Amino acid sequence: MKRISTLELFPGMIIAEDVLSFDRHLIMAKGTELNDNLITRLDLHGILTVYVEDSPPQITVTPTDLTLPQTISYKDRVQNSPEFKKFKEDYEHNLGTFKDAMNQVAERNLELDVDGLLENILGMVSIGSSWPGVLDMLQNMKDFDDSTFTHSMNVGLICNVLAKWLKLTPAQVEMATACGLFHDIGKLKIPHAIITKPGKLDPKEYAQIQRHPILGYQMLMQQKVDDHIRNAALMHHERSDGSGYPMRLSGNQIDPYARIVAIADIYDAMTAARVYRGPLCPFRVIEMFEQEGFQRYDVEFLLTFLENVVNTYLQTPCKLNDNREGTIVFVNKEKLSRPIVQCGANYVNLKDFPDLHIQELI
Ligand SMILES: [Fe+2]
Ligand SMILES: [Fe+2]
Repeated sequence: MKRISTLELFPGMIIAEDVLSFDRHLIMAKGTELNDNLITRLDLHGILTVYVEDSPPQITVTPTDLTLPQTISYKDRVQNSPEFKKFKEDYEHNLGTFKDAMNQVAERNLELDVDGLLENILGMVSIGSSWPGVLDMLQNMKDFDDSTFTHSMNVGLICNVLAKWLKLTPAQVEMATACGLFHDIGKLKIPHAIITKPGKLDPKEYAQIQRHPILGYQMLMQQKVDDHIRNAALMHHERSDGSGYPMRLSGNQIDPYARIVAIADIYDAMTAARVYRGPLCPFRVIEMFEQEGFQRYDVEFLLTFLENVVNTYLQTPCKLNDNREGTIVFVNKEKLSRPIVQCGANYVNLKDFPDLHIQELI
């Protein structure tokens, strides 16, 4: 049995220990054989590491992985756009600056330059182009990098997008971005040996990982930052139904900025690229949220987020799981993951075909 990051999982691996939520509910039983859906489910529950059996699974490469794309894919179109090239350059530059600043705060207790770091991030999203959107560009930046720094920057950017979709004021949008940027700062205080320990964690080590919201709050107490930024670090793992940690707050007890960060945090984890495949198709992520997200996240924030994600893909060509190609033409408000797709002369309403789904954007 070994402990590995959920980012390193792939289909066929066997779960070696029951996976439990913070409030001790069974998420996945020992002996479960993983598939792509189950791996994404672990992300939805905010699980970062799991125990798996040692025996190496057979990696099966499906024929579709081997076929070369006939036309330029959606991914290629995003990656070849001048907007993306500029974004990538800024992203890499700002990541270096952010990393240095965060390390100095964690190691030497230096003053956190919130305004300076925030300015860099806001510069990245000020281009104002309608396509590709920031979330699209972020998806295409993703490699297998699961560092706290890339994750934090991504969450800051996603919070910025969500805050704008929520029509918050410019000052509030900036606040949401900062809250995302520093939400996991407490992770820098957890010994690296625990985070990367391959063997079983003892209860003390396990508790230490779950202390990162409190550690972050304490670090930020020594900094001149707004209360919302501290609260977002403390409360981003709290859940609307009271199932989160560390204080088991629920509903309005959770700072609204922490509720925004919670959605951005999980979205970033779920859309991460995997060892065995590229980033997950956004419609699969939306489906997961629809299946089990609404009781745990702020409903209004989550609905606004998902609706806007879907709207950005209107008129985008896609491929269904039965290999038909078409274009997303109409959003089903009551089932956001299942829009109407035009395939040739036919309109396929995915809401009426439970076995069909959007496999990928093309
Ligand atoms: Fe966290
Ligand atoms: Fe996080």
